[in-house]
Amino acid sequence: MTVPTLPAILLRKLCLLTAVVNMAGNVIIVFFHRPIYTWLGVPLPVDMYHFLLESVLSFTIGVAALLVFLHPDRAIGLLKICIIGKGAYAVVTFTFFAVGRLHWFPLLYAAWDAVFVLIFFLYWIQLESSDLLQLEHQTMAGLKRPNSNRALIIGFSLTGNGAKAIECLTEGLRTGGYEVDTISPTPYDKIYRFPMSFIEFVKIILRAFVRAPTRIQPVETPNDDYDLVIVESPTWLLGMAAPVEAVLQDPSNRRLFCGRDAAALVVCRGAYQRTRAMIVRHLERCGANVVAARSWTHQGFEPRRLMSLWFYLIFRRAGVPPLLAEPRYGLSDKSLSEIKIYGQSLARRTRSRLDWTLINPEES
Ligand SMILES: Cc1cc2nc3c(=O)[nH]c(=O)nc-3n(C[C@H](O)[C@H](O)[C@H](O)COP(=O)(O)O)c2cc1C
Repeated sequence: MTVPTLPAILLRKLCLLTAVVNMAGNVIIVFFHRPIYTWLGVPLPVDMYHFLLESVLSFTIGVAALLVFLHPDRAIGLLKICIIGKGAYAVVTFTFFAVGRLHWFPLLYAAWDAVFVLIFFLYWIQLESSDLLQLEHQTMAGLKRPNSNRALIIGFSLTGNGAKAIECLTEGLRTGGYEVDTISPTPYDKIYRFPMSFIEFVKIILRAFVRAPTRIQPVETPNDDYDLVIVESPTWLLGMAAPVEAVLQDPSNRRLFCGRDAAALVVCRGAYQRTRAMIVRHLERCGANVVAARSWTHQGFEPRRLMSLWFYLIFRRAGVPPLLAEPRYGLSDKSLSEIKIYGQSLARRTRSRLDWTLINPEES
């Protein structure tokens, strides 16, 4: 059983809002359109049949939204219908307005519907990824497989936060009885370094924006009997860092994850959700048993935290300029000790009774 996140609770309430507005609004408009339209100076409907049909369809979308609110666990199909219904209405209305054949009044409905297309999409994403919340708070059972007590950490750090996080994670894993190997992907492209020039920064951002894959040197590991693999990545423009993604995208690296327990560790200024989801889904596609996926954000509050990041990238020093930037850039001591505990919890994870050869027969 997964606990709903705050955004999921909010999005669900917004579904109730549009349900009430669509249902009650259409009933009111059908019965009272004459005085309302006259008062607003909107022309009265010419074709009552079409007017009623449109209201009934909009009312039905309200009913669908109500069902989404009442049964979020079974709501994804209905959300798709709501997206198509509201999206189509908004597109048709904007088009007719653009060609000059419509009064401005229906534009209000269309704008409302366009906003809700976005809200329904966001809720759909939340519902599809409810398992991620569990992985953030709990360490799941590992596979029943030969226990090597050896872990591999794959991570990439530009400005040092990920490197510190990996150190703490390693410490935690060692306390839990693990031997740890760490590797960092080496991109052929030289833009992935720190300090970087402004042009290099822009290139990284643009490539992250279009999620352009990067090429890395073949991944070689000191051992191959790991029972746990942890993937660490910073967030770059709302997604995982290209060099780490390159490891997970290369089918020849599937061997590193398939039939093993795996975990994710994300460090970022504040936006961890998509990076975490990307790592977990990649790991699952590679045949790993994902036991945990945790994220840590920079210390401080917005907007100072964001400014601290920019200033650190520009001046390469924390706390400059003094009032605008946090005195320390990146993860707090508290976060670093939590990462150490994360390492311990991974090392001491329980084992399920699920035999790993059963879920990955080709790897047995
Ligand atoms: C090019 C670039 C893009 C970034 N984009 C984001 C972002 O979209 N959201 C966010 O929360 N942090 C973002 N960050 C901040 C990093 O995730 C954060 O500084 C992280 O701690 C860096 O890890 P590292 O020190 O191991 O490189 C970005 C950093 C860089 C360098």
